Amino acid sequence: MACIPDLVPGSPAVLSITRWVEDVWLVELAEGGRIIAKQQFYGLLTRDEPHDLLQVEFDALRYLRRCGAAVPMPFGIDPEAQIILLEYAGRETVADVLVTPLEASTRRQLAAQILRQLTRIETHLQEAQIDWSSRVIPGASAKELTTGWADVPRLATKALLGLWRRSCGSEPAEALVAQVLLLCERLGRRTPKLGISDYQPANIVVDEQRRRVTFLELSKLGWDWTERRAVQYTTSVDGSGISLLDADVVAQSPLDGDALDGHHILFLLLLAGRMLATDKGDITGLARALGTPLSRDPITTELRRGLQRLTLAE
Ligand SMILES: Nc1ncnc2c1ncn2[C@@H]1O[C@H](COP(=O)(O)OP(=O)(O)OP(=O)(O)O)[C@@H](O)[C@H]1O
Ligand SMILES: [Mg+2]
Repeated sequence: MACIPDLVPGSPAVLSITRWVEDVWLVELAEGGRIIAKQQFYGLLTRDEPHDLLQVEFDALRYLRRCGAAVPMPFGIDPEAQIILLEYAGRETVADVLVTPLEASTRRQLAAQILRQLTRIETHLQEAQIDWSSRVIPGASAKELTTGWADVPRLATKALLGLWRRSCGSEPAEALVAQVLLLCERLGRRTPKLGISDYQPANIVVDEQRRRVTFLELSKLGWDWTERRAVQYTTSVDGSGISLLDADVVAQSPLDGDALDGHHILFLLLLAGRMLATDKGDITGLARALGTPLSRDPITTELRRGLQRLTLAE
């Protein structure tokens, strides 16, 4: 961590360095204050490419932070050691919050902020004079998003069949399968946005008061749908179906509630499909979450009505 005095304003002395998680350290400064040092393990493989992980993360954070977006202030990078120094944003992540019993108002407030700040990050990347799209990580172009999505109807149908056989001992109605396929098609037609490509609850830090959220992982930019990002940032992947979202939060957000509801259903279906395939975990929570409305969209409402048999069977 010899780079710290050179990169952090005021050349502070270091009091202690503690391992935080893999490849991430918490640095306590002698005169008070904390910073995070993160090593980009695979960064050297991308060095000097347009999508250089360390450089993209530094440039994107610096730009977004100047715009006032909810990201940590980057102090600097050491390309030799592949280290980036960041403002410390808090101890917990949204992954921790999802499994912590909290007041409904706190959860709602955090969810509302995540949806609002996510939209702001995407808007700023789009508005910029800098062409961020030339710095997208390979595999995350708009074309590759469409290619990847082409497999979702098959996976979602397979998941639906598996769930039905397991919970009801029968095949789902053809009309229900058709509704799932229609939903996939409708969501696939929407315009994606440039933004973060690694969106999961552990990539948002929550401050000690549980009031402020900070988005991490700007090293890998890519094209995706805002509502899919929003669902995956706020929903647990452990099969419990726990989510920070509810219909009120979604209705008051700048996002498209119908698309968000649709992505929520598909995400839960695909998660259930994966759990059934590996025969791991309890899917009762997922079946229950599939019955939770996040919008009044007639297509998802109808689909949810069809899925109700699952909740009753569990
Ligand atoms: N600025 C920060 N403030 C507080 N905690 C942080 C900060 N940056 C990282 N962390 C902690 O370290 C974890 C890993 O950080 P991050 O998600 O940025 O990197 P990563 O998962 O190792 O991925 P990658 O190497 O692809 O960027 C986070 O989930 C969070 O717990
Ligand atoms: Mg991460």
